[in-house]
Amino acid sequence: MEVKTANFVGSFTNISQCPPPDRPEYAFIGRSNVGKSSLINMITNHSGLAKVSSTPGKTQSINHFLINQKWFLVDLPGYGYAKSSKTQREKWQQMLRQYLNRRDNLQCVFVLIDSRISPQKSDLEFINWLGEMHISFVLVFTKTDNRKYKPQNIEVFKKALLETWDDVPRIFITSSVKRSGKDDILQFIDETNQIFHVPE
Ligand code: GTP
Ligand code: MG
Repeated sequence: MEVKTANFVGSFTNISQCPPPDRPEYAFIGRSNVGKSSLINMITNHSGLAKVSSTPGKTQSINHFLINQKWFLVDLPGYGYAKSSKTQREKWQQMLRQYLNRRDNLQCVFVLIDSRISPQKSDLEFINWLGEMHISFVLVFTKTDNRKYKPQNIEVFKKALLETWDDVPRIFITSSVKRSGKDDILQFIDETNQIFHVPE
């Protein structure tokens, strides 16, 4: 699939404000600074579409982008950002949980994982929560251009998952700097779009 158009729809803090759930939707989530906004810009070929920052906690609301007039891409705030206040973190968490649980057209959540580091408790906990809620997800390893990245890190992550799961989900290996992983993600979205039915 080629991305021909990518338009910012709006930033929302509540599911009731989100656009009508009449098209397939894909949300990008992960710890603060993992590279969600950068990946969105890379796969859409629009460098300024989602706001990128080296300061964690940049994205603070639910941001909808309409791609090819056909599907929504959603940039979410990072979880586990230690420097924000406890009240702020709880507010985001509540917003994220409500969105992930109740957004009817959400086809798949892309959980971004930093490929440079060992499995983090917050990632494993979040993935287990998605499982408990029966929310579909895939994993995306980010920043594989970095010298700290080793393919073995991905094997270690899989092993950590297999301690609680029978299977590992689909995995994408990406770098927004090298622009790698884009075609695989877009093909997966294209295939998933084909089986979308407007929720009743
Ligand atoms: P929040 O919105 O704050 O949660 O962050 P985010 O997950 O959206 O991350 P963002 O895309 O803003 O990127 C965070 C930092 O990581 C920025 O300094 C990016 O330039 C850098 N970064 C993102 N993707 C890559 C990548 O593939 N490789 C490298 N080396 N750096 C990256
Ligand atoms: Mg962001």
